[in-house]
Amino acid sequence: MDLIERIAEVESQCLRAIEGSRTEGELALVDNRYLSKKGALSELLKALKDVPPEQRPKVGARANEAKTKLEALIGTRREGFQSRALEEKLNSERIDVTLPARKTPAGSLHPVTLVISETTAIFRRLGFELSEGPEIDTEFHCFDALNIPPDHPARDMQDTFYLPREVKENVVLRTQTSTVQIRTMLAKKTPPVRILSPGAVFRSDYDMTHSPMFHQIEGLYVDRNVSFAELKGCLLFFAKEMFGPDAKIRLRPSFFPFVEPGAEVDVWFKNRANPEGGQKEGQWLEILGAGMVHPEVFRAVGFDPAKVSGFAFGMGVERIAMLKYGIPDLRLLFENDVRFLRQFAGS
Ligand code: DAH
Repeated sequence: MDLIERIAEVESQCLRAIEGSRTEGELALVDNRYLSKKGALSELLKALKDVPPEQRPKVGARANEAKTKLEALIGTRREGFQSRALEEKLNSERIDVTLPARKTPAGSLHPVTLVISETTAIFRRLGFELSEGPEIDTEFHCFDALNIPPDHPARDMQDTFYLPREVKENVVLRTQTSTVQIRTMLAKKTPPVRILSPGAVFRSDYDMTHSPMFHQIEGLYVDRNVSFAELKGCLLFFAKEMFGPDAKIRLRPSFFPFVEPGAEVDVWFKNRANPEGGQKEGQWLEILGAGMVHPEVFRAVGFDPAKVSGFAFGMGVERIAMLKYGIPDLRLLFENDVRFLRQFAGS
């Protein structure tokens, strides 16, 4: 068999192998077996040196023809495999837009947020504006200007988180939102001032009813001739709006350095549950501190206590939330267990 015939034979073997290949991988093997440098066709052409020189061009041309033809066939078949694979991939990855969507669960407001927004809404109707202050503040705003002298127990290292002296001296995490009374009066310079100030406060304390971070809402009303009766009226309105129309309030004399006279205010309402134990309906529970702004406080901010008067009050937000919703342990409010939090959806 001469070389040309053998070329034709390899060519037809390769043709059948191409047609018989079922995958791109199999086709690559065929390509390798017949057309690579060590493939069947190249092996055949090693015999070219034994062919008489005048016949060599003819044999060479025949070999090239076979190679070109087979390479073209392989190329076409490979493209066929590739486009089929792509089509399969596209089909398998198609998104069915008619499938029902995955639900995104809606969140709900935290009870602390609920109490803050409800309280601010109530006092807005009485003309109070929102005024916020920083959580890190000076001892001046937190204590001195509020008539709390340096040896007052409220400044005790036990209660107050101080910033390290190396960082900044006389700077604390505020222990009360009363700081905003001072900041607002200093900024406004002259009455009237009628503000409500919710926010986080910090004390070194932790148990069933205390958390190192909690929230207060401070109220302040300063003008000419503001009376204690107005304070009572204001707080009674708040209590009824917050705890229901049957709510009553009771004022007990008490001491806070920045008010004179000062009072602790209790509320009575048909409570759902009593965090202090039992389920007694209608019980007096303390909700806030209040009083008439102390002359020393006015002096500290440059107001003339002979000309102006005012009242202030401060309440613990978590305490109000516990009373209103019957939450027995303060810590539940900060554990962020969704089973607990979900109960307030829609409140
Ligand atoms: N700042 C007080 C506290 O943290 C609460 C308070 C009491 C605020 C009486 C007042 C007030 O404005 O008049 O315990």
